[in-house]
This record gives sequence, C-alpha cells and structure tokens, in this order.
Amino acid sequence: MPSAADLLAWYDRHRRILPWRAAPGEPRDPYRIWLSEVMLQQTTVAAVGPRYARFLARFPTVQALAAADWAEVAEEWAGLGYYARARNLHACAQAVAASGGFPCNIPALAALPGIGPYTAAAVGAIAFDAPVVPVDGNVERVVARLHAVADPLPGAKPRLTALAGAFMQDADARARPGDFAQALFDLGATICTPRSPACALCPWQAGCAARRAGIAAELPRKAPK
Ligand code: ADE
Repeated sequence: MPSAADLLAWYDRHRRILPWRAAPGEPRDPYRIWLSEVMLQQTTVAAVGPRYARFLARFPTVQALAAADWAEVAEEWAGLGYYARARNLHACAQAVAASGGFPCNIPALAALPGIGPYTAAAVGAIAFDAPVVPVDGNVERVVARLHAVADPLPGAKPRLTALAGAFMQDADARARPGDFAQALFDLGATICTPRSPACALCPWQAGCAARRAGIAAELPRKAPK
C-alpha cells in the first residue's frame, strides 16, 4: 500500500520552490494561497509566477483588494482569463474583509463567493492544515494510476475523489495535510505526468497498480466526447 510517509519524504527532498509556497516552518497566509489557487485554475504555474507577484504588489492584503475599485482589479486581472473570476475574486475579498479574515473550516470557505469544493479544500489544507485532499486534474491522474481505475472521466470522478480522500486515514498525511496536497500536485506535475510518466523516479512506484499492470501512461481514460 502506498504510504503518505513515502510521498512526504519525497516532497521534503524535491518540493518545488514556488512563489506562493511558504518555506517549511514559515507562517502561511491564506490570502496568498487563495489568490494562487484562483490564478492556477486557468493559467499554468510558469505563467502565474510574474502575474501573482504583480497582483500582490498592488493588493498586498485581502483588505487592500476588498477596498480597491473594481476597475483597478479588472485592470490587474487583464489577460488572466474570465472576468467572472475576477468579479468573484473581488466579491470574495469583500466578504472575507467584512468578516475579519478567512474562515479556517471547509464549509465556511466553500460558502464564500466563487469558492467551489476544490478551492475550499486547497485553501483549507494548505493554509490551515484541514484534513482534506484537494482533487484537481493532477491528483485525479495520480490516484487513477495508483489504484488502476480504468473507468473513464468524468464518470470516475466521485470514485477518484473518494480514493484521494481516503489518504486522510493515514496518520502521516493527517499530520501534514497542506504538504500532502502540495506533494500530490508536485508528483503529478513532475513525475506522474500525463505522457511518459517517470515511474522509475516515483516514490510510490512499488505500490502503483497501473505501473504493475503496465498501463500507467494510459490512465486516466477519458469518455469519448
Ligand atoms: N496547482 C494547483 N495548486 C497548486 C499549488 N499550490 N502548487 C502547485 N501546483 C498547483
């Protein structure tokens, strides 16, 4: 069985240095984490970097973002995709500022404007170590391979979400939910890649059912459109 300890040990050696990641032991700012997650939903990690820094220079706190005029926010968001997202971002900042800061539990995070189950789980886990596993495309792929889930997406989504969540029964994952989530993101981005996964370098290679069956690169399958 793949252990959280193996993945976390790999993460401790290979974690990517990313602008929104606090160094180990540093305080984690939910505003910065939330902002990075919203940007990453529509833009690649490489492209988010400079835009993220610029956005934070202009709006360093959630209070600053909440107090800004919509026109300023729209200007700073230009080129980052849907304006609806920037509208939600601004509305969310105003709700958070009005209530004195980000809530630290998942239901309250999920009740904020524009925050769906993924973003609530990502902010909850990374900023507050809430015992949840945020499931994005990277995590779906890792879990589909680990358990050799051959049913196609999107039908397989509930099963993959349940399998990912089951990791929180592992005491090592429960002790570090934020690192565990980011370890899954990094594994999916650097080792368990969509094509030609680098299984020989994977901390979970011994427990991976798809690797054993020789079908890692074929998973996850997608339903024909
Ligand atoms: N993709 C989504 N969230 C991410 C994060 N926090 N780090 C790296 N990649 C991500």
